Amino acid sequence: MAKLFRHGSLDTESAAELLDRATTLRGGPDRGPRDLVASALLKAARMRARPTFGTNYTWPRTHRFSPRLLPRKTVAVQVRWGIRHAKWIAETWPPHAKRLFRLGDSSQSRSYGERKFDLVLTSPPYLSRLDYVRASFPEIEFMGAIGAAGCEGLRERQIGSLLVSHEDSSRDDLPSKSEFLVKRIRRHRSKGSQSYYSKFVRNYLLGIRKTATKLASACNPRAEAWVVIQDSWYKDLQIRTDVLLEELFGEAGWSVRRKWSFKVPSSLSELAATTHGWRDKSPLEEHVLRFERT
Ligand SMILES: C[S@@+](CC[C@H](N)C(=O)[O-])C[C@H]1O[C@@H](n2cnc3c(N)ncnc32)[C@H](O)[C@@H]1O
Repeated sequence: MAKLFRHGSLDTESAAELLDRATTLRGGPDRGPRDLVASALLKAARMRARPTFGTNYTWPRTHRFSPRLLPRKTVAVQVRWGIRHAKWIAETWPPHAKRLFRLGDSSQSRSYGERKFDLVLTSPPYLSRLDYVRASFPEIEFMGAIGAAGCEGLRERQIGSLLVSHEDSSRDDLPSKSEFLVKRIRRHRSKGSQSYYSKFVRNYLLGIRKTATKLASACNPRAEAWVVIQDSWYKDLQIRTDVLLEELFGEAGWSVRRKWSFKVPSSLSELAATTHGWRDKSPLEEHVLRFERT
């Protein structure tokens, strides 16, 4: 903290260095406390940008501000909050096993390192066109303003990126249920179904399968993967994402052992239903799938 604010206002170079380290695999024994300050910095930036949300929660409107004007006090409050939270976690759930954090793109082998995992707990993006990266705009804009690296190309690299590339991915074969869905969407009579939405869905499914494959290679035999996923709607078509995932994970070397499903009381799809008139209701379920690496 002292180094970050050594001249009274935020030293953007030190802040950029701190965030660079937090978003790469570099780091030493002091990594924990440093990452805590990095995260406090981003939280303070979000507060300073005062994001406001319309109907789409993932598209915040933000106020621009000079990073040098980020108040030291706000960062300090966030650091204190972070320490309190970390202590509470450590006391409530004392670690029983060695844990390792790695940041990376889940569809790339290099993100997993050499060690093999026994357990995967994941909630991949839903097939809902939520733009998770855009939702982090206050933090990303701040990082860009101080010259920190690490955010380039994130939107394109998301599983289910809204930015559909012009590259033709239709030659990559998908398993039959996925292929059937893509065909149904391509033939749907609504605008953009063929030119945009079917490509978006295909890319999403390819992204999930690629991640499932990389996960399988990064895990020990008999490892478990617990996956949380929510159903989705395309206009009047209900998309059973759990069924698609079973098939995609199955191809990648995982067998489903158990599944739990829960009704979702309200969702963004409900909102879209009334807006566009494609359906009366949007019943949705959230699923937890337990896979075993076979
Ligand atoms: C449904 S959210 C789950 C959020 C998570 N449960 C949490 O609490 O942060 C899906 C997350 O997957 C991330 N994601 C999308 N594509 C990814 C990729 N290729 N590699 C790693 N994460 C990705 C999104 O940015 C988003 O944070």
